Amino acid sequence: MKQNLILCGFMGCGKSTIGRRLAALSGRKLIDMDRFIEEEQGMTIREIFDRYGEDAFRQMETEASKALSLQSNLVIASGGGTVLNPQNADILRRNGKILLLEVPLAALQERLKTDTQRPLLQRPDRREFIAELFEKRIPLYRQAADLIVPAGAPGNVVARRILEMLNETEDSKEVN
Ligand code: S3P
Repeated sequence: MKQNLILCGFMGCGKSTIGRRLAALSGRKLIDMDRFIEEEQGMTIREIFDRYGEDAFRQMETEASKALSLQSNLVIASGGGTVLNPQNADILRRNGKILLLEVPLAALQERLKTDTQRPLLQRPDRREFIAELFEKRIPLYRQAADLIVPAGAPGNVVARRILEMLNETEDSKEVN
């Protein structure tokens, strides 16, 4: 039974993309927490924010953290805000390691500039908002993380780097 690997970090840092690679390489199942919540609720994250508000969504993240921490053999791509609540980080850590994917702000700005799906970013001052939120969140992500991974490289490279850092390379498979 393998411990869960929980990917955290700012919106656009590659949690889902790297998560897919990491799951394939390490023989775990990928769960994208946003998609998990969307399926549970039968609506998109945008709709959840519009209908119920952010606080309700944050509560759903805690419920999802509890449900997923009961399983093992998972790579969990968390949402960009999930582990900022220390309660969620504690729950997820019960059965796994929290890995922070660090990508420089400039790269995140580039990746996020045309996003239409993330409710927090649908505002005219997006660039300034991202810069401020990034500064605020970075220390909190670092506090929650068991391991900090430089993640600017392509997904498969970062996934291999993670397994090396965790000393799990022996049981990893070759996947392109
Ligand atoms: C959020 C990030 C999103 C999603 C929601 C809130 C955040 O996930 O959970 O829009 O607070 O940073 P991604 O990081 O996968 O975009």
